[in-house]
Amino acid sequence: MRVAIVGAGVAGLSCGQALLAAGAEVHWFDKSRASAGRTSAKRAFDGHVDLGAQYFTARQPEFRQQVELWQQQGLVARWRANLYRYQQGQLLASPDDQVRYVGVPAMHSPWRHGLDSNNFTLNSRITGLEYQQGWQLHDEQGQSFQGFDALVLAVPPVQAIQLLAHDDELRQQVPDSMLQPCQAIAVKLAEPVRHEATAVFVKGRPLGWVARDDSKPGRQTAFQQWVLHCTPEFSQQQLTSPSHELVALAIAELELLFQQEIKLLDSVHHRWLYAIVDAGQAAPGVLISRRLPLVLAGDWCLGGRVENAWLAGRQAAKAVLHV
Ligand code: FAD
Ligand code: NAI
Repeated sequence: MRVAIVGAGVAGLSCGQALLAAGAEVHWFDKSRASAGRTSAKRAFDGHVDLGAQYFTARQPEFRQQVELWQQQGLVARWRANLYRYQQGQLLASPDDQVRYVGVPAMHSPWRHGLDSNNFTLNSRITGLEYQQGWQLHDEQGQSFQGFDALVLAVPPVQAIQLLAHDDELRQQVPDSMLQPCQAIAVKLAEPVRHEATAVFVKGRPLGWVARDDSKPGRQTAFQQWVLHCTPEFSQQQLTSPSHELVALAIAELELLFQQEIKLLDSVHHRWLYAIVDAGQAAPGVLISRRLPLVLAGDWCLGGRVENAWLAGRQAAKAVLHV
């Protein structure tokens, strides 16, 4: 069986890894330069920085088992963050018992591990699909790819809807406004923040999350590096704001949180258009076409988060093997 997977984020990669293990041939297509989607660490400050997913938790037995295996392989480590929360003008210690993990050396390491680059077509945005005895895919640059028995769309809802012109029934099951944006900023500081916090859940400010990236295992650097995420609401309001304004805001917010002057060495900004699943909306589950060998997967199918993206990929693989 030859399977095409459009979208090489956590869901697409976990789906493909399961299909490969079951003996299928797998080929991934992704519009980005690299795989891992929203968990892909960005090149910055002469290294990498986690601008997307910050950490992950493991609550379901199947994912916990996988995380244990990754730990044994040195691909995942526990992040013992010094947690704080900021609310009503106060920075308060906020420890808990939740175990949080990160990929090492970078967030994307576990799900990319062991895959052959020949199985990927990157920089390829799929814009059209056809089914006649097998799947044919067309990309933005006019390239066509054919001969696939089954297809998995492991992309965010809006992008899935664009590709489902031929399947009204499936298209109508995809929630179109489920993912909210996130403006993400990383800063490299000339002088350290003199506070023990390494992560802050922020309430009632433009930022929702602040974390010291170099406090995560395998990411130690000479200068402190902080990642700041704006809330979905603020990110939506500031969708077209220029990077320098968002960086200035990030610095001002850091100064407010830690009550010290912040001196910037370097910065990077990324606008995630489809970032965080709106927890207020019902998750539809992994969607399976009744007419064609086609399955839809992604974090949004099961309610957001890395764990759910991985589990959705596994469920999609099972569905493909049974169509
Ligand atoms: P994606 O990672 O979005 O993968 C989809 C892939 O499809 C992408 O690589 C994209 O390039 C590709 N694609 C889309 N359209 C096309 C097309 N037409 N043709 C080809 N390729 C296409 N989760 C946590 O558990 N913990 C966190 O701390 C956390 N923080 C987050 C912070 C931010 C800023 C963001 C953005 C996300 C965060 N998340 C977090 C959510 C987590 O990253 C996602 O749940 C998970 O990575 C989603 O994986 P996915 O495979 O479903 O989707
Ligand atoms: P988690 O259990 O650490 O965090 C879940 C949420 O609980 C946090 O966003 C925060 O608001 C709150 N929280 C947790 N610990 C806290 C503490 N010690 N003090 C104060 N508040 C605390 O991890 P989980 O559930 O794996 O989520 C990871 C991240 O993924 C979150 O930080 C968030 O950014 C994102 N997320 C995305 C969702 C989605 O896509 N729908 C849903 C939930 C979280």
